[in-house]
Amino acid sequence: MDKIVIKGGEPLRGSIAISGAKNAALPLMAAALLTDQALVLQNIPMLADVMTMAKLLRQHGVALELPNGHPELVMQADAITNLVAPYDLVRTMRASVLVLGPLLARFGEAKVSLPGGCAIGTRPIDLHLKVLEAMGAEILLTEGYVHATAPDGLKGCEFQFDTVSVGATENAVMAASLAQGVTVLHNAAREPEVADLCRCLVAMGAKIEGIDTSNLTITGVAKLNGATHRVVADRIEAGSFMAAAAITGGHLKLEGIDPHIMGAVTQKFMEAGVKIETGDNYLIAQGNGLTGIDIMTQPYPGFPTDMQAQSMAMLALAKGASMITETIFENRYMHVPELVRMGANIVVQGRSAIIRGVEKLNSAEVMATDLRASLSLVIAALAAQGETTIHRIYHLDRGYEKLEQKLSAVGARIERIREKELA
Ligand code: UD1
Repeated sequence: MDKIVIKGGEPLRGSIAISGAKNAALPLMAAALLTDQALVLQNIPMLADVMTMAKLLRQHGVALELPNGHPELVMQADAITNLVAPYDLVRTMRASVLVLGPLLARFGEAKVSLPGGCAIGTRPIDLHLKVLEAMGAEILLTEGYVHATAPDGLKGCEFQFDTVSVGATENAVMAASLAQGVTVLHNAAREPEVADLCRCLVAMGAKIEGIDTSNLTITGVAKLNGATHRVVADRIEAGSFMAAAAITGGHLKLEGIDPHIMGAVTQKFMEAGVKIETGDNYLIAQGNGLTGIDIMTQPYPGFPTDMQAQSMAMLALAKGASMITETIFENRYMHVPELVRMGANIVVQGRSAIIRGVEKLNSAEVMATDLRASLSLVIAALAAQGETTIHRIYHLDRGYEKLEQKLSAVGARIERIREKELA
């Protein structure tokens, strides 16, 4: 398995182009199943998860072209041959469950493996199923699969989510776009990636009102068309680089991102002493000495759970204490023991972590446990004294495009050691 070696202590300086968001690209790719015409996605990030979604769509029969070296993906679902999303793909990537709504809405049937648990918690899909049932789908759970049918098509409904769920909102909006009648979704997720999906669906001919709010009204249409859509920038990648600039006392300009989609991150980081400047399509973050703050993860526009681990690494070197409370996922502190091995002073109590700032972090051999946790180790290593080795970095490849290239271009001493070089 590849590993990353980082020699810490260099302030990061320069500019980084932010990639398209993984969490927008995956549902947008699933939306290709809603039409027999071509859907073209621009600014698509080259990530392991995008490749997994491409593999899943191909096995459903989607024709998919990824012109070499060009971040544009062309998909056409005019010859769907298979309505089953198999276990071996779904288990590697939960977002595979996003094919359920589109397949069911367009073909009246879908069979999708249950994703099972994952490293950050149990992550059920009950809300995905409940909203589809409310639209008239019959759902059977057999042999680890969800078998959904709606032979006469889905029907519009009024549905109240009891928990805000990004994936369930996305499945529901896609399904409702081809349902008969009007669907009203209350307490829907309003993450920028959900809004990006809605905008693409509108470009495809869907009728959606309330985009960017938690009440979505979707009037079903009989058919959706092809479209060309640019994937929204990755706010989590941008936030992660902001933390890297802050912890190293550096100065980074993050380009190609609308600062408004950062939600609570900008304000919280400013509270922690990070100097932030924003412009039309960029953000500048400058490290200026850090102070402890309290953070509670919340659905958008609150502080994102996907920025929790990276912020914790940053706060490990802040003056004073911080408290982070994770309200979205029950088991998202696996980075804590690794950060502690690097000299951080962090105690977890229930859903909260108390971080007492230390003077310095040390190098160590650490292990990446999930996507965002991996980046917290990179951030800590960038500021640590000495050489840190991060193992199991395949997690990073799932969600961060060209991470080493982007970081070394702004002064980080980071190197990937490939498996065969290790042999
Ligand atoms: C998406 C993001 C992920 C992010 C998460 C929360 C993608 C591909 N992934 O994941 O990076 O961390 O949003 O912002 O976009 N829940 C239920 N029942 C359900 C569905 C969810 O109880 O049917 C719960 C989950 O266990 C969790 C909470 O709702 O506690 C939020 O999860 P959800 O928003 O659905 O996350 P994902 O869409 O899986």
